[in-house]
Amino acid sequence: MPPARAPSSRPLLVVTLLLVAALWYLSGSPPASRAAPLKDAATAERKRAAVPSQPALVNQAAHKAAPPPLDDDRSALSDRRSTVLTQRIVAVGDIHGDLPALTSILRRAGLVDLKGQWTGGDTILVQTGDIVDRGPDTIALYRFFQSLRPQAEKAGGALVSLLGNHDIMQTLGDWRYVTKEDIASFGGERNRREAFSTGWIGAEFRANYSITARVPYLVSSLPHDLAAPVLPSTPRGSSDRRFLGDPSYPASASPPNPFLHAAASFVHGGITPEYLDSLHSSHPINDMNRIGRELLFSLLDVPGGVPLSLPRSAPPEQREFWSERGPMWNRDWAIEDEDEICERVERVCEALKVRRLVMGHTPQFEGILSRCDGKVLLIDTGISRAYGGAHSSLSLTYTLTPASSLPLADALALSLVSLSDPDPEATLRGEGELARTWVETEVVEALYTRGRESETLGKWERVVVVPE
Ligand SMILES: *[C@@H]1O[C@H](CO)[C@@H](O)[C@H](O)[C@H]1NC(C)=O
Repeated sequence: MPPARAPSSRPLLVVTLLLVAALWYLSGSPPASRAAPLKDAATAERKRAAVPSQPALVNQAAHKAAPPPLDDDRSALSDRRSTVLTQRIVAVGDIHGDLPALTSILRRAGLVDLKGQWTGGDTILVQTGDIVDRGPDTIALYRFFQSLRPQAEKAGGALVSLLGNHDIMQTLGDWRYVTKEDIASFGGERNRREAFSTGWIGAEFRANYSITARVPYLVSSLPHDLAAPVLPSTPRGSSDRRFLGDPSYPASASPPNPFLHAAASFVHGGITPEYLDSLHSSHPINDMNRIGRELLFSLLDVPGGVPLSLPRSAPPEQREFWSERGPMWNRDWAIEDEDEICERVERVCEALKVRRLVMGHTPQFEGILSRCDGKVLLIDTGISRAYGGAHSSLSLTYTLTPASSLPLADALALSLVSLSDPDPEATLRGEGELARTWVETEVVEALYTRGRESETLGKWERVVVVPE
């Protein structure tokens, strides 16, 4: 496992800066208690928006530093500008017929309670496929996700369900890995075949399962004036439908849009640049989902439901999709040398406009593997008791903090203001470029339920200035 990326000199730096800030404070800045009392609603909003679990370094002191006293006409602007925006995305890899393992993992991630009811609020949960095979809990697992989906949506979150090669294999009639208990639980092969074709699982696949998703780091709660010039339009609508296409940005991007890649890509196997080239497409995410859908629908429509291999009529793009080069089966990012892959990984991130590629399919029994500085995250850890690997989920926490609500020490640490400034505090809360400056953090963690400690796989922090 790669070590966590916590730089060792950081604590010392922070202590020094806090001392500097304390000295500055003692020399006459206004006490925080003089701040105008906040409206209840605004306070609640602030509480909701604050990152509770794993705040990035810069946010840890945020709640202590009340904003300075405000003139009435500036308070609306300032309220907006002091809002910390945050989004959490959790991903779970191959489950292979083990419901108890899944529910304990989701409890560990704070997404469900003991009864399996959604407690994840506006978290986006992504499951990267291979729910079925090797273990017996097929019915229970698909039913569980079916019941979780509307609960997540109602709470403002989402469940994004992606198909794995094993899920599609059921509709292909490739049952090599199906257990006897699984077949018995359906009341025999015939019923099982029907459930996966014209029955309820087939219907769920058609309606609510996809091939690949691009999940933006900020989905809702965007201030409109921030959203307008730089963020992609996120279509409203049901659940994962929002995440199945390529982003559409406003045309002109000069200076470059700092949030262009603020998203992560999810798929079962892996997306290579060579596969993307073969698509000849300017909308690769749309196209991968379209090809997968067309393949799935053609399989679901075969009378009797057992084609046993790709139908003879399958067009070349479906054959390429279902080959070892395609997104359902590819293993390049898991098995090739890191030296060989990172430049290719970069090309895919560029094409899909994402920062990271998350996928399952190739088990890493020890735990989630981060490669190419966190650009590749392999999350199949052999969860099922058929394997006995680590019980894991990947947690990605994104935070955007306006510069104006940073504690001075952090603003100094990030060189946003300088001590040689006559009034650094006023500069920080003032207009101009700092009013359009945000600190963006991404924390990527591997959470485990037992057997090993959870760990931070990486923390990234950037200063972004939104173009005017
Ligand atoms: C798909 O998900 C939606 C939203 O949760 C739900 O209302 C619908 O019943 C699901 N479709 C099927 C076929 O299960």
